[in-house]
Amino acid sequence: MPIVDWYSMRMIERTKSFIKSAFPGSVRMYRRVRGIRQAPGTRTPVMADIFSRIYLNNSWADAESVSGRGSTLARTDAIRRSLPALLESVGARSLLDAPCGDFNWMRDVELGAIEYVGADVVPELIAQNRHRHGDVSRRFVVLDITSDQLPEVDAILCRDCFIHLSFKHTHAAISNFKRSNSKFLLATTHTSVRENSDVETGGWRSVNLLLPPFNFPPPVRLVMEDSEAGKCLGMWRLENL
Ligand SMILES: C[S@@+](CC[C@H](N)C(=O)[O-])C[C@H]1O[C@@H](n2cnc3c(N)ncnc32)[C@H](O)[C@@H]1O
Repeated sequence: MPIVDWYSMRMIERTKSFIKSAFPGSVRMYRRVRGIRQAPGTRTPVMADIFSRIYLNNSWADAESVSGRGSTLARTDAIRRSLPALLESVGARSLLDAPCGDFNWMRDVELGAIEYVGADVVPELIAQNRHRHGDVSRRFVVLDITSDQLPEVDAILCRDCFIHLSFKHTHAAISNFKRSNSKFLLATTHTSVRENSDVETGGWRSVNLLLPPFNFPPPVRLVMEDSEAGKCLGMWRLENL
């Protein structure tokens, strides 16, 4: 490294440490101004950073949906046909779709009079959904399901999300869902998985919610989405989790 760069780096580092020690609140203030939030109790990059990067790079590399191939019309045929009846069977009048992703398949679901709120941690996705699909019966909000306060609804749909979250963040989301006082949780579970493994948030692996460390009870309803992959959407009463 040229000596002038090395010297500049030293000066920058020294200035930074001087500011940090002289003004202890300055790092917090800097993060607030730049909109950089730290997940509670962690020093990892925040959710929004991880999933915004995935969205902006189209890392799940599907031509139809930025939410990945699990969100295409072809792969959501079973769930699109079953969801209205599933919600009706428990008398749901309100639905929090968290996360909603790019709303690619949900736009084709006939929800009737159900009040719909779609939530995602990626602000760009929510802005796009509002612009393309928002109306009085379809609202879209930016929320981190692991830490933000959630609305109280009859049913929370959390499809294809825990597969991307670490155990720690999945537990945080489940606790947060319970804290919302909502009634039912519909979530993806893979009956083919015999043992759950942890993953860094932003990665991917299948999860079976009936096995440790989640230990969900048998679901009150179960829709088979993909029999080859053993991918299902289970429904549970949140008070039983
Ligand atoms: C594979 S997509 C699934 C989207 C949708 N549920 C579907 O079935 O098409 C996963 C989505 O989860 C969102 N996500 C990940 N962690 C989140 C969090 N902590 N809070 C809110 N959204 C999150 C990502 O931004 C992404 O849009």
